[in-house]
Amino acid sequence: MIKLQDYSIQFQDKGFAALKAQLIKTSYSKVFVLVDNNTQAHCLSILKEALEGIALHIISIKAGEAHKNINTCQTIWNALMEQQADRKSVLLNLGGGVIGDMGGFCASTFKRGIDFIQIPTTLLAQVDASIGGKLGIDFGLVKNSIGLFKNPKAVYLYPDFFQTLPKAELYSGYAEIIKHALIQNSTAFTQLVNTRAPETSHWKSTVIDSLLVKKSIVEQDPFEQNIRKSLNFGHTIGHAIESLSWETDQPLLHGEAVVIGMITECYLSHKLLDFPTKQLDLVATYLVGLYPKYDLKTLNQGHILRLIQQDKKNEHQQICFTLLEEIGAFKINVHASDTLILEALDYYQQFVQK
Ligand SMILES: NC(=O)c1ccc[n+]([C@@H]2O[C@H](COP(=O)([O-])OP(=O)(O)OC[C@H]3O[C@@H](n4cnc5c(N)ncnc54)[C@H](O)[C@@H]3O)[C@@H](O)[C@H]2O)c1
Ligand SMILES: [Zn+2]
Repeated sequence: MIKLQDYSIQFQDKGFAALKAQLIKTSYSKVFVLVDNNTQAHCLSILKEALEGIALHIISIKAGEAHKNINTCQTIWNALMEQQADRKSVLLNLGGGVIGDMGGFCASTFKRGIDFIQIPTTLLAQVDASIGGKLGIDFGLVKNSIGLFKNPKAVYLYPDFFQTLPKAELYSGYAEIIKHALIQNSTAFTQLVNTRAPETSHWKSTVIDSLLVKKSIVEQDPFEQNIRKSLNFGHTIGHAIESLSWETDQPLLHGEAVVIGMITECYLSHKLLDFPTKQLDLVATYLVGLYPKYDLKTLNQGHILRLIQQDKKNEHQQICFTLLEEIGAFKINVHASDTLILEALDYYQQFVQK
């Protein structure tokens, strides 16, 4: 069990014994489970079997980031209302980061807040989204722009959920594992580079190592006043590219966009913080080898810049980046000019065309 300030993260086997015990002990008036069509098909039966004897009220929504919005929240709040959820009800969020962020947001605002428990089913949600209390939805083109901080009552991890996860989703989550290594731990990064096929990882230990990086950072800085910003490495440019890619016929997964973000932000690090050329080349070669090559020319460069400027992490109209001095050492609140950002995008483009 990994203890955080006011909740714990626990690995479970198929029986989900600790979750069952928690639900019985708390004697909730009703237990709701939020799923999307994929987790309903692949994960719900495991949970139902484990929680046999407890009545589960299922709320199902369509899968995907495109549905992480206020309309879907209305569907969820309506379902809670119609099935008479009260302040003593609990919502189990069974899914990836979309279900966790949006389910947590809906639970925290329904009747001024009901309990919720995260049961992340993607690699990304297990190592990242389910830890740290950030909840929310997308608004307009700006990701996660409406939301709040609130911790769940618990997080339960079951790595076998990955067995049904599409390979691209697994790799998307793996990008966050790479990010955690790049900002905190050069030894871990070398180990990742040596693990040629991520799908052969020993998931329990890989997940623990990675989530401990996030845990230690969010505990020191829960509300992102300072070092929590390190987790935004790769995300300032990555988020903008991710959002714009949805408007094309080649939408990127979160982690795939973060990979482009990490390469371009390593380039900014090289220019602004003397991030060594050798390490820039190592990171770019490793990431481009593992992930699909993306043609940035399909996106309007001016739109990319505009979206970066709208990033909610910016302060006083200045674009704030987290960059690297070297692998394992970050620096927050670094400013970069538009010209340099465009140069970084060009660096990526040239690199994938090599
Ligand atoms: N709160 C945070 O701190 C935080 C951190 C990082 C990311 N996020 C958010 O997380 C989201 C991305 O999370 P994600 O990558 O998990 O996306 P996701 O929830 O969309 O899941 C990815 C896809 O996998 C499917 N799926 C989930 N589990 C499955 C399983 N076991 N088997 C088969 N299919 C399965 C889903 O239906 C979906 O189609 C983004 O919205 C991002 O903003 C939040
Ligand atoms: Zn991310």
